[in-house]
Amino acid sequence: MSTQFPNGFLWGTATAAHQVEGGNTSSDLWLMEMMKDSLFAEPSGDACDHYHLYPRDIAMLKQLGFGVYRFSIEWARIEPEEGFFSTAALDHYRRMIACCLAEGIVPMVTFHHFTAPLWFTRDGGWEDAKSVDRFARYCERAGKALGDLIAYTCTINESNIPIMVTMIREAIGIAGGGKREKALAEAARLCGGEAGRFAPYLSGNGHAATPNLIAAHRKSYEVLKPLVNGPVGVTLALNEFQAEEGGEELCKMADQAINGQFLESIKGDDFVGVQTYTRVRLGKGSVLPPPAGAEVTQMNYEFYPEALEATIRQAARISGCPVIVTENGIGTEDDTRRIAYTHRALDGVLRAIRDGIDVRGYIHWSMLDNYEWLEGYRPKFGLVEVDRETQQRKPKPSAYWLGGVAQRNGL
Ligand code: BGC
Repeated sequence: MSTQFPNGFLWGTATAAHQVEGGNTSSDLWLMEMMKDSLFAEPSGDACDHYHLYPRDIAMLKQLGFGVYRFSIEWARIEPEEGFFSTAALDHYRRMIACCLAEGIVPMVTFHHFTAPLWFTRDGGWEDAKSVDRFARYCERAGKALGDLIAYTCTINESNIPIMVTMIREAIGIAGGGKREKALAEAARLCGGEAGRFAPYLSGNGHAATPNLIAAHRKSYEVLKPLVNGPVGVTLALNEFQAEEGGEELCKMADQAINGQFLESIKGDDFVGVQTYTRVRLGKGSVLPPPAGAEVTQMNYEFYPEALEATIRQAARISGCPVIVTENGIGTEDDTRRIAYTHRALDGVLRAIRDGIDVRGYIHWSMLDNYEWLEGYRPKFGLVEVDRETQQRKPKPSAYWLGGVAQRNGL
């Protein structure tokens, strides 16, 4: 059986601005990380100082053998106050994209990866219908400034994650004694907003945000398409949902609400970005823990790389779009498990390709050990280790291994 990937297959790694840049002070999460009784394990702070060190990091990617870098531009830096667009921030990202091109790295740019400007989240975030035009206006400005250099565009990262997080919260019940509600109310107070209106992406109400996120992707697709060079799409957080006995109905419902409706809404797009980490098993009325004895990752996810093959098949079948795996990876201190996980995930990609599914690339999460949101810096998703005191980078064996796969275009 051939272990070669199709000619022109894209091989890359990914990051997101807030998780690696540092100093994202105009964003909603900066406030939430810094406040007393924060939901976050620790603040992002200087992160990996990728805002300044990107030339080094992009050169390192090239040396390792990768051909694509997926990263996000930060709305909170580009439009730190409503209607004020920072030319300096746009120039920064233009230099960054140009640096990819100079290194021979294909830039894949995400316009929204979880964080938003504080003013946006203070005023209802994605739960307010105004979000659609607000996001489209930002995309237009950034698209005009950067689009001629951009090779691949992702509008919104995981536009289905707010509904996923909300449904999991509802299925598990409100744990934590209202900690989330208290934090949101306090954040609203600190920034002079109204309690009940402060709505960050990952801890707001996914039911209210979903129609606006679907509409925002549609609108920004239209806005960006003539401004950028290459394909435009959205990325989705696609778990493989599996029903255990008694969980059939819940599974069907969750799969439609979290995966199905989003995949149906993107028919005709240039690609769908598939982002998969594990499977989720559902029993009667609840999310089941990983099976007894199963290996779990630092995120408490079951080690289950085969989920990627299943979600690639589902994404292609429902959306009809070509697939790019825009994220896949594992939080682990044991780098040998990262190689094992990625190898098995790629075996699944090959099986899907052999069955005629149009999969165009594999982008690993993540280039660097970085800020893993609520969990802080504990989970290690990076192919490259970062000493955050000195900001030294040290590629792990998995980085050389996957870079070699990329070079050979084969396992
Ligand atoms: C997100 C990343 C995150 C990764 C690992 C994805 O859902 O896009 O920002 O770090 O999962 O949890």
